[in-house]
Amino acid sequence: MDVSLISDMLRSVALPGLKRAAGLVTRMLPIPQPMLLVGPGASARLGQALGAFGHRRVLVVTDATITRLGLLAGLTDALTAAGVEFRVFDGVTPDAPLAVVQAGIAVYEAEDCDALLAFGGGSVMDAAKAIGLCSVNEKHPRQLAGYFRARHAPPPIYAVPTTAGTGSEVTVVAVIGDPERQRKLVIADTRIVPRMAALDPCLMTGLPPDITAATGMDALTHAVEAYIGQWHTAATDQLALAAVATIFKQLPRAFADGSDLAAREALALASTYAGMAFTRADVGNVHAIAHQLGARYHTPHGLANAILLAPVLRYSASACEPRLARLALHVGVATDDMGEVEQAEAFIDAVAAMNRMLGIPATLEALREADIPELAAAACHEANFNYPVPRVMSQAQCEALLRQLLAEPAAARSRKKVAKPAAPPAGRAAAKTRAGTAAKAGAKPARKRGAARAASA
Ligand SMILES: NC(=O)c1ccc[n+]([C@@H]2O[C@H](COP(=O)([O-])OP(=O)(O)OC[C@H]3O[C@@H](n4cnc5c(N)ncnc54)[C@H](O)[C@@H]3O)[C@@H](O)[C@H]2O)c1
Ligand SMILES: [Fe+2]
Repeated sequence: MDVSLISDMLRSVALPGLKRAAGLVTRMLPIPQPMLLVGPGASARLGQALGAFGHRRVLVVTDATITRLGLLAGLTDALTAAGVEFRVFDGVTPDAPLAVVQAGIAVYEAEDCDALLAFGGGSVMDAAKAIGLCSVNEKHPRQLAGYFRARHAPPPIYAVPTTAGTGSEVTVVAVIGDPERQRKLVIADTRIVPRMAALDPCLMTGLPPDITAATGMDALTHAVEAYIGQWHTAATDQLALAAVATIFKQLPRAFADGSDLAAREALALASTYAGMAFTRADVGNVHAIAHQLGARYHTPHGLANAILLAPVLRYSASACEPRLARLALHVGVATDDMGEVEQAEAFIDAVAAMNRMLGIPATLEALREADIPELAAAACHEANFNYPVPRVMSQAQCEALLRQLLAEPAAARSRKKVAKPAAPPAGRAAAKTRAGTAAKAGAKPARKRGAARAASA
């Protein structure tokens, strides 16, 4: 008997069955939710609130950009006023690599801390979660990768997200970089959900447009993958729909004008809703592939998701058309008189149009053809054994998806330039212009089928 046939059968019959069963269990799993403080000044209010918890010493975990920008001031002033002793560890770097987590553990223990306050993007929040869990359990982060691998609960964790993307302030997950093995370690445990979180839009007004765009698309990916996956529930659907609609409306605004406080607050909430949705319903193929691109090429997580979202949805559409159609109606890019297939396509086209408006490319410059088989194998393994995806990927299908992301060789690009009239300028500057124009015109993402597909091919 053909061995590949066995693995194909396992993948397409046995694994989805097992995951459906696991989904029934996760539906019952109690997931704690942090108390949320929302609005301008919320981070200082969190600092004030901490005074009541009687911690011996709090380790504030952050990164050097945040300390340089002076974003901590409101919080640290409030901690001082409330008589809370604290130390600051600002050594976190993107994707929270293992060495950073270990350095954080050393500071946490040397300073005799008993609580953690994460102040930053997903990298900072995940580093803080790992520092707490590893320290209490006296384990290396690699030993805790997987589901519920720790014996003891971490100390109380508080969170102040400074990007609107990961939703880590409400999730059961910490993603840690393992540069040596070119992997991302996922630690999942309901006890690492922060106790309290502050969504403070004032901290996000200085977020550069490219990070605003990528992190916003990460949140959109969480919401969409939670909505089309097999583990969705009525509650996660509601959160996902709210997140998707808010992101479609507010991300172009925050991108065009970073100081738009109302848009920033709405996006921070949307990111939290999306986090709440996916922490129960899980993510899917987009994340499975994005994690490999992040681990190998250090592609920012949100950017990798953004580039992958439309192609992966096109691949998955046949298995989740009604759900994609509902998303299209919900964000207003389709109408009732359209057929379901057309509505689903309109949603995918709107995602691709959003990317173009945000200056996000359809290809990944760093991606190398020679790496594709290994990347695909790792992505399939992650997706097939973890995520309740609507449509399972085979090795060949995942490789084909990745090949769509290959940048054109330079020679082909210059031939096109000669053959065609000048294309509109690419990149961030152009994106700003396009976003500005779109915002002025109150433009909605393009509804026409075909246009988006041609651009992302
Ligand atoms: N735990 C989860 O549930 C979860 C979910 C999704 C992603 N992740 C992980 O989160 C990480 C990505 O997090 P991220 O997208 O928030 O990026 P990030 O935390 O790596 O931050 C990106 C950059 O933005 C800067 N930055 C952050 N806030 C800023 C601000 N307010 N103003 C100016 N600059 C600011 C940072 O210094 C950094 O250089 C990845 O490792 C990803 O795998 C975790
Ligand atoms: Fe993500």
